[in-house]
Amino acid sequence: MKLLLRNIKQLLQVRDNSIDKVSGAEMKSLPLIENAWLLLKDGLIADYGPMSNMPDYQGFKTIDCTGKMVLPSWCDSHTHLVYAGNREQEFVDRINGLSYQEIAEKGGGIVNSAKTLQQTSEQDLYSQSAIRLEEILKQGTGAIEIKSGYGLTTEAELKILRVAKKLGENYPIKIKKTFLGAHAIPTEFKNNKDAYLDLVCGEMMQKISEEKLADYVDIFCEEGYFTVADTERVLEAGKKHGLSPKIHVNQFNAIGGVAAGVKHNALSVDHLEILNDDDISVLKGSNTMPVALPSCSYFLSIPYTPGRKIIDAGLPLALATDYNPGSTPSGNMNFVVATACIKMRLTPEEAINAATINGAYAMGLSASHGSITKGKVANVLITKKIPSYGFLPYAFGSNNIDQVILKGKTLE
Ligand code: NIG
Ligand code: FE
Repeated sequence: MKLLLRNIKQLLQVRDNSIDKVSGAEMKSLPLIENAWLLLKDGLIADYGPMSNMPDYQGFKTIDCTGKMVLPSWCDSHTHLVYAGNREQEFVDRINGLSYQEIAEKGGGIVNSAKTLQQTSEQDLYSQSAIRLEEILKQGTGAIEIKSGYGLTTEAELKILRVAKKLGENYPIKIKKTFLGAHAIPTEFKNNKDAYLDLVCGEMMQKISEEKLADYVDIFCEEGYFTVADTERVLEAGKKHGLSPKIHVNQFNAIGGVAAGVKHNALSVDHLEILNDDDISVLKGSNTMPVALPSCSYFLSIPYTPGRKIIDAGLPLALATDYNPGSTPSGNMNFVVATACIKMRLTPEEAINAATINGAYAMGLSASHGSITKGKVANVLITKKIPSYGFLPYAFGSNNIDQVILKGKTLE
């Protein structure tokens, strides 16, 4: 199975030598080949180069990319894509003046979604989630992380992770799974958080590791949800079950979650809307990827993660959607890239690096995804005819994607 893309106006994010991530000033550079070709073979990137040096390939299926850009498909390292129902009513409540926290205190928010999901069959949950997955495939996402956390019972948490696993088996997208049992305190445990954490760190983790249903462990470290001590407890238990941490921290308050994540060698710390200088210092020299979720800030009208400051401090940054029914009902990475430029002052080069190679890092997938490198998975998107790659974030409301190729095959 071979596919040749030729006359590519610019082939973007070309990394001859595989790298795991880009940090600080390196993020300003987006290596590219002008007027290029790209050969995909057996689902992998086989070769590429400038048209002037293209070997005399005969008889291959060919796509002419005149006037179009080709880049690696988006790597979305933070989503809650498997959920049941929606929460438009809470959206309207917020428009009418209630805050996100006030809605949660009234029994809305995460526990509201959990109630719905507990009553939804696995088959129905699969069908609802597959519709969302099909939409984001068309929007150019080729690797994704999906969290549990809208179940909050052993049975419902397992149901989410099984659905995520099945989606990965049935669609040509790489899916990494994260156990987020500690997403909120279920109503039944309202006055007994420790008993809920016993369940999370005991029975839930036990079953998840038996069925090999997760790669990572997560917790919502936030006032009114889980403390830093709770976070350390869950991360330690996760480690015993072979789950590395990727955690929700600093969404509304900086309470020390970043340092806890770094201490436990978290692969990523995500949200970071409220970030102080100590948090930035602690990330320096660590292997932990800071992840910004600008669509969440947009939807909730909360501060944007100080991405400019993070990069200027020499740190890496990844961008992800946070696709979920409460704070971000959108899985569109194109919007994320544009919003990072418009609201966080990332340059197009920085935003594309953050949404490809750094997103891959935040899922442990840098060796196989996130750049045009020989031997990596043949996941690329072909843009429409556009004047420059800066046009992608600039024309933020347009669909600039012409075709998507996943594992070497064009998506119908
Ligand atoms: O990442 N902050 C925690 N969890 C989700 C949203 C939860 C919800 O409102 O359903 C997030 O924003
Ligand atoms: Fe999230």
